[in-house]
Amino acid sequence: MCGIVGAVAQRDIVEVLLEGLRRLEYRGYDSAGVAVINDSQNLRRVRRMGKVKTLADAIAESPTPGGTGIAHTRWATHGEPSEDNAHPHVSGDIAVVHNGIIENHEKLREELQDQGYTFTSQTDTEVIAHLVERELRDSTSLLNAVMAARSLLEGAYGMVVINRTDPERMVVARSGSPLVVGHGIGENFIASDQLALLPVTRKFSYLEEGDVAEITRTEIRIFDAGNEPATREAHESDVEHDAGDKGEFRHHMMKEIYEQPVAIANTLEGRLVGGKLNLESLGDLSNIDQVQIIACGTSYHAGMTARYWIEELAGIACNVEIASEFRYRKSVVRPNSLLVTISQSGETADTLAALRLAKETGYDRAITICNVPGSSLVRESDMALLTRAGAEIGVASTKAFTTQLTALMLLTAGLGRANGMNKESESRIAEALLKLPALIEKAIGMDGAIKDLAEHFAEKHHALFLGRGDQYPIAMEGALKLKEISYIHAEAYAAGELKHGPLALIDSEMPIIVVAPNNELIEKLKSNIEEVRARGGELFVFADEKLSIRPESNMKVMSVPHCDDIIAPVLYTLPLQLLSYHVAVIKGTDVDQPRNLAKSVTVE
Ligand code: G6P
Repeated sequence: MCGIVGAVAQRDIVEVLLEGLRRLEYRGYDSAGVAVINDSQNLRRVRRMGKVKTLADAIAESPTPGGTGIAHTRWATHGEPSEDNAHPHVSGDIAVVHNGIIENHEKLREELQDQGYTFTSQTDTEVIAHLVERELRDSTSLLNAVMAARSLLEGAYGMVVINRTDPERMVVARSGSPLVVGHGIGENFIASDQLALLPVTRKFSYLEEGDVAEITRTEIRIFDAGNEPATREAHESDVEHDAGDKGEFRHHMMKEIYEQPVAIANTLEGRLVGGKLNLESLGDLSNIDQVQIIACGTSYHAGMTARYWIEELAGIACNVEIASEFRYRKSVVRPNSLLVTISQSGETADTLAALRLAKETGYDRAITICNVPGSSLVRESDMALLTRAGAEIGVASTKAFTTQLTALMLLTAGLGRANGMNKESESRIAEALLKLPALIEKAIGMDGAIKDLAEHFAEKHHALFLGRGDQYPIAMEGALKLKEISYIHAEAYAAGELKHGPLALIDSEMPIIVVAPNNELIEKLKSNIEEVRARGGELFVFADEKLSIRPESNMKVMSVPHCDDIIAPVLYTLPLQLLSYHVAVIKGTDVDQPRNLAKSVTVE
């Protein structure tokens, strides 16, 4: 979603801002803009529809140097994507960039219009610019003006404000939208994601909810929600500097698919030692009678898979719910309940809100399975199990998902151990996890064959995915991947539901993708396959290499490496990721930044 970069420096900062925006492109956006204050105290703003490259070209044609500046990529919420609606927004000497949604913007807009302010955009953000401008008239500093303005705002924001007449500082505020301060030498930075600033610093402080900060070249002063001075520790980032590079790959998504064996090995490091599970770092998992998992999107599918594992292997009751549903209904919390949030970014607005709500409603403990250390979910949970997948740039989640599944299997083992799981089950989990990176490597070997298979989907408008048991969520994830990046309408069904509706859709135009591992449900799945064949459906079956499913007319069979059934959901994810990737490439869509989607959904 929207991205923010800001800097106060002595040198010309424009290229740093543009590079920061490029590094945030993966989040999804529709327009971009920059505002800088130059040595003669002129405020110059450039905004463009479309890509950061268009903005950079415009700036290259008419250079606009300056040492203090703010930049933004916008993902439209209020007001269509257009140059007028792009950030920064300006009011008099004030320029503002903002992530989030100001919920009382209509009331504030009316009030400001009555006071003579003219609006030039349809955005909610423009009220912030006018409010700060108004408050500055009665304030002694930009800091005080921003503090006064934010007390009038309802909703979510991460914002950065600069003032033409006071060029050596920016004031930033956070409520519901992440901001990270980058510490430089004789210069300082702000961004919505540390990735944006990795070329200029590795030292970061995360702002907390309600924080306001005044940033100059040499000083960072932070104040908490009550406007009291606060200290936010600085951390050295260990994210690779070139995390944004595609290397030899054409797309980030493919690079990230290929990174999965290493990413999973990283998830397991120190947690699976000498073939034995080392689960101390999971914290206290004793006395848990109920697990509630909360997540969105792909992370929700990881949670759905884990429910099968937690109930079957750990013997603990488990519910899974989409965060946006959970947060707006009354749910019953049983004693001794563990809340598990799952999130790649750790900043998804609904998941974060669900965690905060759950903390008020009596959950015993809250653990997050998350990929971003220092993210809001990690900081606000009692425990964090980091997935260590490395930066994921492609909007469609791949390595974040399989590492979430790996972490969730570790959590299952931890819960099981605390709940009296027998030694055999624990050894089985350890052995399955130990073999996983090599198995994933083998599954990647299916790439060439899947590329050929993808040709069959290029002209299709719909697809149906079928799975059973813990492979049903994998079918859902396969359908999500296909729709996200190839724009083919795809649905997933638990195969047993076939007769209750989707069978009516089957004809020769409807490809049906079946995930068929080697477990006790296979005979039932084979009957489902026959039901589809009998109606002329075109089948694509991903089946364990040891299974005797023979290719037939209208039925292609792809052999998947044999593995222990408990870990099969992770393995079968791979061919489905590769399939959606190749279909998208054939269709010529924007694989890494699919239309209308955002990587990190920081507004509800
Ligand atoms: C967006 C992304 C998905 C992701 C979902 C949840 O929709 O495009 O890939 O699964 O958000 O994000 P999270 O960061 O909480 O896992």
